[in-house]
Amino acid sequence: DMGGHDTYMHKEIVEQVEAVDRVLRGRIDDRFATVHLGGLNLDPGEARRVRRIKILGCGTSYHAGQIGAQLIEELARIPADAEPASEFRYRNPVVDPDTLYVAVSQSGETYDVLAAVQELKRKGARVLGIVNVVGSAIAREADGGTYVHAGPEVCVVSTKCFTNTVVAFALLALHLGRIRDLSVADGKRIIEGLRRLPGQIDEILKTEPEIKQLAKQYADARSMLFIGRVRGYPVAREASLKLKEVSYIHAEAYPASELKHGPLALIEPAMPTVAIVPDDDLLEKNRAALEEIKARSGRILAVAHQPQEKADHTIVVPKNEDELDPILMGIPLQLFAYHTALALGRDIDKPRNLAKSVTVE
Ligand code: M6R
Repeated sequence: DMGGHDTYMHKEIVEQVEAVDRVLRGRIDDRFATVHLGGLNLDPGEARRVRRIKILGCGTSYHAGQIGAQLIEELARIPADAEPASEFRYRNPVVDPDTLYVAVSQSGETYDVLAAVQELKRKGARVLGIVNVVGSAIAREADGGTYVHAGPEVCVVSTKCFTNTVVAFALLALHLGRIRDLSVADGKRIIEGLRRLPGQIDEILKTEPEIKQLAKQYADARSMLFIGRVRGYPVAREASLKLKEVSYIHAEAYPASELKHGPLALIEPAMPTVAIVPDDDLLEKNRAALEEIKARSGRILAVAHQPQEKADHTIVVPKNEDELDPILMGIPLQLFAYHTALALGRDIDKPRNLAKSVTVE
């Protein structure tokens, strides 16, 4: 049942307001400025002994894990990184007893992620799962973890599950942070930010008519570049994946800081750039990148907290706490990918050659 929407993708994008509300519900502890995650199965002593966190997933879940790793480093000050599960399992990784492994999967059935979890467990590692489908293979195989409570996601192109997974990582990072070095004041600040998310997502969804017009203007592009820096880079990567899988327009994501080292050669009017420009300590650096692109007659669509002078168009999103901004900045680009695909007459819920869960190697 699509509840009045023409596709599941559209329904699931709109559902993000309630989905984010659901992942937060019942978990916030205002008294200690922290969150409780029931099934984590990691006591405070163990949480303090973790020296490193390694996040494994595929596709969109891997991108959610990249933002998750940044949140963990920022809030819990534990070195963390994300890697495609498929790469990890084929490179005979060094499995370290002080590392906490986190497997991320919407379906909980992705074979490469499951196989990575099984290999890690065989080697005695501790593995948590951040999973959407309750009782799925990865959820059962993990030592503990948390469900992301996005509700059923039918469209092959993942949207609400991405957002909820990133929010679940923010909760994990806050939880670990408050056991370690995050102050009460910062804990409160993040909690307030989390509480603002559903209302802010609602605000973003109201800009859909404007995004629809923009999508029509860019739908003739053969290729698009997506750029961002630090917090904005995984947002750019995910937005680029969204666009290519649903519209079949080639898209490539690059750190804005790497432009000069190659991709600037691609810039010309026929190669538009989508730039993630949060109002944080890297704002001036990001603006400099926009100038470089404009000087070469590149078209620019910015996603930012305030209109960008060098951009041809800016989609303005509401500001949250710096650490949580990535959760919001990808949402208008889900709508952008959707409306581009719609303008091109694509099979939105079932893009060619793709399956909802990849249960083969
Ligand atoms: O079910 P999972 O989260 O494990 O799936 C992982 C990827 O196959 C999935 O995210 C894929 O990249 C989607 N088509 C992205 O929209």
